[in-house]
Amino acid sequence: MTFDLTIRNGRVSTSHATFMADLGISDGKIVAISQHLPAGKQDLDATGKWVMPGGIDSHAHIEQASSTGVMCADDFYSATVSAAFGGTTTVIPFAAQHKGQHVPRVIEEYAKRAAEKAVIDYGFHLILSEVTPEMLNEDLPRAIAQGITSLKVYMTYDALKIDDYHLLEIMEVAGREGAMVMIHAENHDVIRWLAKRLLAKGLKAPKFHGVAHDAIAETEASARAIALAKLLDVPILLVHISGPEAIEVIRSARTLGSKVHAETCPQYLFLTQEDMDQEGLEGAKFCCSPPARDKAAQAQVWRGLLDGTLGVYSSDHAPFKFDTTGKLPKGDATTFKEMANGVPGLELRLPLLFSEGLLTGRLSPEQFVRLTATNHAQMYGLEHRKGDIAIGMDADVVLWDPQECRTVTWNDLHDNVGYTPYEGRELRGWPSTVISRGEVIVDAGKLQAARGRGIFLPRQIPKPILESAAHPKPSHASDWLGLKGKAWAAY
Ligand code: URP
Ligand code: ZN
Ligand code: ZN
Ligand code: ZN
Repeated sequence: MTFDLTIRNGRVSTSHATFMADLGISDGKIVAISQHLPAGKQDLDATGKWVMPGGIDSHAHIEQASSTGVMCADDFYSATVSAAFGGTTTVIPFAAQHKGQHVPRVIEEYAKRAAEKAVIDYGFHLILSEVTPEMLNEDLPRAIAQGITSLKVYMTYDALKIDDYHLLEIMEVAGREGAMVMIHAENHDVIRWLAKRLLAKGLKAPKFHGVAHDAIAETEASARAIALAKLLDVPILLVHISGPEAIEVIRSARTLGSKVHAETCPQYLFLTQEDMDQEGLEGAKFCCSPPARDKAAQAQVWRGLLDGTLGVYSSDHAPFKFDTTGKLPKGDATTFKEMANGVPGLELRLPLLFSEGLLTGRLSPEQFVRLTATNHAQMYGLEHRKGDIAIGMDADVVLWDPQECRTVTWNDLHDNVGYTPYEGRELRGWPSTVISRGEVIVDAGKLQAARGRGIFLPRQIPKPILESAAHPKPSHASDWLGLKGKAWAAY
């Protein structure tokens, strides 16, 4: 048999091993992993390259309106092109329900936007900002059955915030039907109270965003979310964890049997609060929620990545231009409270970790693969086809050149944001060839992917890994209420 594509002489890293091998690819799948494979119809020489699974980015805001109605700068085309250039071959953005919107209609709209434009494969998480009986009884079970097996809720933001009662209702459905509940955990009233007092004192600059979003708000809400989930024995994933105390809360909850998973993002490894502390409004380019903390916090985030407490590393790409259409709705008069929250990161997520995690020796190649791909697939029900290099898996493969050095500048990136918070960084290692389902989509700096070639990925019930947890026992309440649903079966 002649392979459609042979990748030759590369240093292959999977989630569990690194070895020299060729890959044989046919019909979009990896069909052979061995030395001295016969020539394919297309032959790629990977001598000197590191061959790794394409990244999965399971947290990105694309063509989505923010909680204050500001539209993202990236649509499904620019976002997925940008992701592809950075070595990411699967993305799971959000289909976001704003108040009053009917969930099936929201899903339909996002599906249409993505189908026309995406150049890489995608799924959706469903953001819920309002809970109705119809949604709980019909819309969510149907969405989950369609393969949207993760639901995201916010404990803060005026327009999105879900109270504890409704959070329990969503967790109950997710547990029964088999979906992961993703939670943005920050205490809304703490932030509101602090922001009001700061503004009353005339403290409006971007750096006060960091003061208002004190790490205590994250710690408290994380602990509360974990407690609610434990009551129902439902798995949850706390997104964008930034602070040492929240990490410690997650670590200890896991050792006590909570099914709690957690994510962190480049901004918590590579930015600090000092980045927000700049002349004028420049600091707004670095404002996200939760905000980047200090150097000591960064060290604890690295530790959390290494010991498995933080199992997924995603971008939380939240692309807003640095003008009145995005970050600064009131121009120069914009206060920290009015700024659009979030930083871009889809394209640089992997290069940053490759350079600063892998090539510095902090992470092994296998850890890099798990944090950027495999764990995302397991966490979100894609492990049957994505996230690793193995026979039968989709041929989503990246050839990395570990010698290539680049100075980051937004002009070289492919998003529509207009700036990058990582401008000027020196990075080593870059994706030189990116392959999606056996097709070369980026090579030598050129895009070879057609608009709309990406496909929707219906996802299975998540079967997340829980490396450090004790054996979970059902809670008293879940026992009496008979709540052990499909999500439970995953453990
Ligand atoms: O600041 C952030 N993270 N913006 C995006 C929306 C969210 O909170 O995830
Ligand atoms: Zn309905
Ligand atoms: Zn969030
Ligand atoms: Zn986000």
